[in-house]
Amino acid sequence: MKKITIAIDGFSSTGKSTVAKQIANYLDYIYVDTGAMYRAVALFALENNLLSETHFNKKTLIEALDQIHLEFKKNKESGKTEMFLNGKNVEKKIRTMYVSDFVSSVATISEVRKKLVAIQHQMGVKKGIVMDGRDIGTVVFPDAELKIFMTANAEIRAIRRYNELKEKGENVTFEEISKNVQKRDLIDTTRKDSPLIKADDAIEIDNSEVNQEDQFHIILQLAQDRIAGRI
Ligand code: DC
Repeated sequence: MKKITIAIDGFSSTGKSTVAKQIANYLDYIYVDTGAMYRAVALFALENNLLSETHFNKKTLIEALDQIHLEFKKNKESGKTEMFLNGKNVEKKIRTMYVSDFVSSVATISEVRKKLVAIQHQMGVKKGIVMDGRDIGTVVFPDAELKIFMTANAEIRAIRRYNELKEKGENVTFEEISKNVQKRDLIDTTRKDSPLIKADDAIEIDNSEVNQEDQFHIILQLAQDRIAGRI
């Protein structure tokens, strides 16, 4: 059967990765969470004292990019894909608020984007891929057969994120989360290089009032129509 490329972009905490994983599982496609790659680079900068509340040594980070080796590996027990940074499993660390607070600044650096976009592009050469992020339909795969742009009300997104982190046992307040979501929206949409914008040919889905199950079926239908050449 014909394989296509599915690009899922949108704001933070709109459930992109949840639906992208569901679609990839159903179609037996590869799923790639590009946010995890930016998060791993941010973690590298934090752990090497290149980035803190008070300073950001961008030049040294750019010079060190060749020393950053990223790999996605499947956890055999959980079946979930995990991010490895220079051979170390950093899946848990990259999801913390500590990393969330800094990742958008790291994602503004063109050299970082260039490196990650090249890797992402390579992952999708054979198609049969669902990739989620901010610039997948606009920059990474402008020719993707199906592009989805996900949005949701900012407060609803903050509530979802808060519940998710609480479930993981993180000690965070709703105010912190809400501020983080708003800050990332602002940085992601206003940065010079590859800002978060809807591609002209993307289908926008506002899921403020749509549950995960319905959303999965809407996107799956679109994917199946594209694969069959119906739309
Ligand atoms: O999807 P996420 O929340 O894990 O992404 C973390 C950050 O990485 C997000 O604030 C913006 C950045 N990002 C990006 O600039 N481009 C992508 N393709 C994916 C993520």
